[in-house]
Amino acid sequence: YGDPSQKIDYVFKVVLIGDSAVGKSQILARFARNEFSLDSKATIGVEFQTRTLVIQHKSIKAQIWDTAGQERYRAVTSAYYRGAVGAMLVYDITKRQTFDHIPRWLEELRSHADKNIVIILIGNKCDLENQRVVSTEDAKEFAQKEGLFFLETSALEATNVENAFLTVLTEIF
Ligand code: GTP
Ligand code: MG
Repeated sequence: YGDPSQKIDYVFKVVLIGDSAVGKSQILARFARNEFSLDSKATIGVEFQTRTLVIQHKSIKAQIWDTAGQERYRAVTSAYYRGAVGAMLVYDITKRQTFDHIPRWLEELRSHADKNIVIILIGNKCDLENQRVVSTEDAKEFAQKEGLFFLETSALEATNVENAFLTVLTEIF
């Protein structure tokens, strides 16, 4: 997961947003440390982790920021988005409300972030197919309409997590 001694060509800040308990922190844990925990605690304030990876022969330090989905634990919004070149907008495919709130998150993102920010919509927990309530088609259609990338992921099974980050980082690059 990245040689710390290597020289860094670029540092890219990417922010995670979405309702509480959709799996933002576990997506980050999977990407940064290849870890996953079922008894993940709600995030309070802001945390970030980095991972250095090579894309097109350049070493890129991805600095991924994670904040609370719960309003009362959230950090100062403008500081959170400052300098971000990528954003991952996460919902839970088993919780309709988390998908219904996506337009609000998108609005916050668009009013605070750089207008060229690369955004990916992520339907997490795709391992729970038998509890699915948000169809892939609905999400795909929404993403297309809003000009967002889209993937379904599972932090638990490590499905598409790497792919989601690579999609954003490659597009920024
Ligand atoms: P806040 O910090 O409150 O905003 O929540 P969060 O979005 O960071 O959620 P978190 O990563 O803490 O995950 C919430 C719960 O969902 C935890 O119990 C996780 O173990 C679980 N979880 C996260 N990702 C997955 C997944 O892909 N599949 C399944 N089955 N559970 C997941
Ligand atoms: Mg969290």
